[in-house]
Amino acid sequence: MIELQHTAKTHDESRQGEALDMLPTGKSTGRKLYIESYGCQMNFSDSEIVASILLDNGFETTKDYKEADVVFINTCSIRENAEQRVRNRLKEFESAKAKNPGMVVGVLGCMAERLKSKFLEEEKLVDVVVGPDAYRDLPNLIEKVDDGSKAVNVLLSREETYADISPVRLNSNGISAFISIMRGCDNMCSFCVVPFTRGRERSRDCYSVVKEAQHLFNAGYREVTLLGQNVDSYKYKKTVTEGETPEPTVNFAQLLAMVAEVSPELRVRFSTSHPKDITDEVLHTMARYENICKYIHLPVQSGSSRVLELMNRTYDREWYMDRVNAIRRIIPTCGISTDVITGFCTETEDEHQETLSMMEYVKYDFAYMFAYSERPGTLAAKRYDDDVPEEVKKRRLTEVVNKQQEHSLYRLQNFVGEVQKVLIEGFSKRSDQDYCGRNDQNTMVVFPVDERFKPGQYVHVLAERCTSATLIGRIVE
Ligand code: SAH
Ligand code: SF4
Ligand code: F3S
Repeated sequence: MIELQHTAKTHDESRQGEALDMLPTGKSTGRKLYIESYGCQMNFSDSEIVASILLDNGFETTKDYKEADVVFINTCSIRENAEQRVRNRLKEFESAKAKNPGMVVGVLGCMAERLKSKFLEEEKLVDVVVGPDAYRDLPNLIEKVDDGSKAVNVLLSREETYADISPVRLNSNGISAFISIMRGCDNMCSFCVVPFTRGRERSRDCYSVVKEAQHLFNAGYREVTLLGQNVDSYKYKKTVTEGETPEPTVNFAQLLAMVAEVSPELRVRFSTSHPKDITDEVLHTMARYENICKYIHLPVQSGSSRVLELMNRTYDREWYMDRVNAIRRIIPTCGISTDVITGFCTETEDEHQETLSMMEYVKYDFAYMFAYSERPGTLAAKRYDDDVPEEVKKRRLTEVVNKQQEHSLYRLQNFVGEVQKVLIEGFSKRSDQDYCGRNDQNTMVVFPVDERFKPGQYVHVLAERCTSATLIGRIVE
């Protein structure tokens, strides 16, 4: 996968190996858990739920897998190389397990769901395989392994949202956090494995979402990102008992407003918006609340209507452009990012040019770009020939990446000379003389530390220059 430098990685298997360190919340058993996550933010968010469940069961966490009693790897199946990375990592666990035969090795997440018990045959060191909807069963499954058997639970659920579990915030900067608002996906894009690994779409209780946002705010957090594969199809209806008056269904625009109302000091972001579902109501809600960030991740996948149809995206080029026009009309300052796939089955050179011309039309602030990778079991794998040669996919990808680099730079240059409202996230990666944080449009801004301001505070920064991924400036009053 090729990708430009950026901070907000919502859908990207390149984030990896993030471990954590926490003490138990229940009665300690002294057993140590190591968990590492791959894939999209949803997976990282799930790892926080897993940690919460095990901490409640007396585990403590460690950042060193070599000293762990239980080693979990939360996996991604989105592209073949994502799976390869996990298999390579499992090999590295082998020597630790040889030294400590009591060590429990578990595979969680999307690859676990896709391969199920086959994993146990393919990777001998794996003891437990657990799908995304079965994490409540983990303490029980670990017990089974302790008793000498292998354990698998890959049941998908129509209801599970883990709404009542407060995630332990791992590797957090204490300023920004993710909140899952829904699970699964009902869309069946033909290239995508997610509906198979994550099951049916379901929305989480809106009150539990708001409560979590409020707790985070009280604990000093100043930014939440609401997560779902297709946030625009969020809908929650409270089940009422006899005698209670039924409440109307809450849609995504309404949920956004509810979270934004927690405090004007709490920034609200969300991902991912589906072009077929994003409504003007959502856009108007964004425009109405200053604290809802003016940034939309709107994956286009392809600029060709014929390819979009094969992809089963259920919108065409014109529809997508109309949605972009609506964003520009209702929220003129809005940043837009996207996902692009190059070399999908039967994609012609002209159709690839249509993707480039779509990019030209939107001039995205940022993009995740991928060469098509056939996934077993998907509609595309069943119906279409993966007939674009690898080198053609890669060449088209390079062209898309180069185009995006131009546009990222163009967007950043437009910010230069302007004052940006930035939420300070902490010290910059390069130097503790500098702070970093993002502007409304999700662009990273770096500026010299000013002792009067601390992480978690908002400052106004004059952008004085930029690289292709970062604005550089100074605080102004
Ligand atoms: N729910 C989001 C996408 C989640 S997957 C949406 O609908 O946009 C993140 C991105 O991975 C997708 O947008 C797509 O660009 C890419 N992707 C998914 N399956 C892929 C495949 N088989 N090959 C290459 N890229 C893929
Ligand atoms: Fe996959 Fe499409 Fe669902 Fe996104 S909307 S997760 S691309 S099936
Ligand atoms: Fe996310 Fe990868 Fe699963 S992108 S939903 S972890 S397949």
